[in-house]
Amino acid sequence: MSLLALEDREAALAALERLLLASWRGFDRARDGQPPISGELRERLERPLPERGIDAVAALELADRVLDASIEQPRPRYLAYVGSSGLEIGVLGDALMAAHDVNVAVSAGGADLVERQVVRWVAELVGFGPCGGVTTSGGTLANLTALTAARERAVPGARRRGLAGRRLALYCSAEAHYSVVRAAEVLGIGSEHVRAIPVAGARRAMDPQACAAAIDADRAAGIVPVAVVATAGTTLTGAVDRLDALAGVCAARGVWLHVDGAYGLPAAATETAGALFAGLDRADSATVDAHKWLFVPKACSILLMRDPAALHATFSHQEAYIPHMEAEEPHAVDQTLEYSRPLRALKLWLAFTVHGAAAVRAAIEGNLRHARLLAGLVRDHPDLELACEPVLSAVCFRHRTADNARLVAAVQADARVYLAGAHVDGADCLRACFVNFRTTDADVAATVDVVAELAARAAPRPPAP
Ligand SMILES: Cc1ncc(COP(=O)(O)O)c(C=O)c1O
Repeated sequence: MSLLALEDREAALAALERLLLASWRGFDRARDGQPPISGELRERLERPLPERGIDAVAALELADRVLDASIEQPRPRYLAYVGSSGLEIGVLGDALMAAHDVNVAVSAGGADLVERQVVRWVAELVGFGPCGGVTTSGGTLANLTALTAARERAVPGARRRGLAGRRLALYCSAEAHYSVVRAAEVLGIGSEHVRAIPVAGARRAMDPQACAAAIDADRAAGIVPVAVVATAGTTLTGAVDRLDALAGVCAARGVWLHVDGAYGLPAAATETAGALFAGLDRADSATVDAHKWLFVPKACSILLMRDPAALHATFSHQEAYIPHMEAEEPHAVDQTLEYSRPLRALKLWLAFTVHGAAAVRAAIEGNLRHARLLAGLVRDHPDLELACEPVLSAVCFRHRTADNARLVAAVQADARVYLAGAHVDGADCLRACFVNFRTTDADVAATVDVVAELAARAAPRPPAP
C-alpha cells in the first residue's frame, strides 16, 4: 500500500458522512450562542509539526471540533458582512471536485465545458446577454481581471510596455468596494486616480452626470479613463448604480463599463428587484460572486466578459512549458491571472442542476423579503431606526440612544445573532445582510429582540414620565 493511502478509507468516509450530516442538521436551526475554544483545543492547535500521524477518524473529529468553535457563515442567524451559506450540494460538489482535482489551467476536457456552461447560465440568470468569461476565487480577483482587460483596451500594449508615464483613472461610486481601489494600485493606475463619484438621492447611486464630468475633465487634462466601475449592490447599503445611464455615459465616450455585482447582481434575477438592474446588458463586464448570493461555499466568483477576446488580448502568452497552437481553443491560463485552478464552477453547476434556477431565484427573493421584514420591524420599534432605506438585502439600522459601536460588540459577544458594525453617513450602526437560504422569519424577528434586549441591558430606557 502506498505510504500516504488512508488505512481505512471506508471508516474515514463514514466518519465524514456522519460529521457532515451533523453539521447540516446543526445549521438547520439557530443555536443559542458560540461555543468557546477550550483550553485543550487551544493547546492542541499550538503543538509543533507532528512527526507521526494519528487515525483519520480521530483527526476528522478534531477538525470538526475546531470548525464548530469557529464563526460559521452557514448558520441562519449569521447576518454579518456578505456571508455565504455552504449550500449542501455545493459542499458535495467541492468534495467531488477535490477528489478528481482537475487543473482548469490548460485544456481540461469536460471540466472546460462545465466552466463555460456555468458562465452562460449565470449570464442568463442575471440578464447579462451573450458573453464569455471565467471563474475566479472571488470578487476581488474578478474585478482585477476585468480591469486588467479594460486597461489593455484603454492603453493597448500596456501589458508589455508598461504605462510609460501615462496617467490613467478609474471612476466608481464613493461607496464602491475596496477591491476597485486595490485593482487601481495593482494595475499602476494608483489609488489617488480612483475618482470616487458622490452618491446622490435616497437610492445612494453614483451620480451619472458627475461621472461624465469627471471623465471629461480627466480627458482634457491628458489622463486616460480606463473604466467606470458601477456597483450593483454596494457592500454597505446594497445600493445599485444606474447602469443604463452609466452605459450611456460610457458609450458616448468609448469607456469600458464594468459592473461589480459581487454581492447584489443575483437579485437581477428576481421579480421584485430586477428592474433596478436595467442596462446590465450594455456593460462590458460584470462580477457575480456565487459564494455570496448564489449560496455555494467559498470560493467561486464568475466574471462575465462581453468580448472574451479582450481576456485573450490581455493574458495570452507562449511559454516553453505550455506550448500551444494559435488556432487551438484558448487555455484558461491565456484568459485569467491564475495558473493552477480548481474546477470551482462544479459546485454551482451542481446547484443549478439539482435545484433549478426557479428555486435559486425564489431563495434570493426570500432574502429580499427578510430585509423588508427587518426594516418594517425596525420602523415599528420605538428605540430603533433605519440608517437608510434598504435597496436589496442589506439593512443598516441603529438604536436611537445606545452607543451603537458598543452595541455591535455586545451583539457579537452574545452571538445569538451575528451582525456587523458599519458607518452610514459617518454614524455607527448595525448591519444585517440576508444572503442565506436557511434564514427564517423567526430569525429576523430574533434579530430585533436580541438587539433591543442587549441595548436595554447596557443602558435601560428611562421610565416614561
Ligand atoms: C460589491 C463587492 N465587490 C467585491 C467584493 C469582494 O469579493 P470577495 O470577498 O469575493 O473577494 C465584495 C465583498 O463583499 C463586495 O461586496
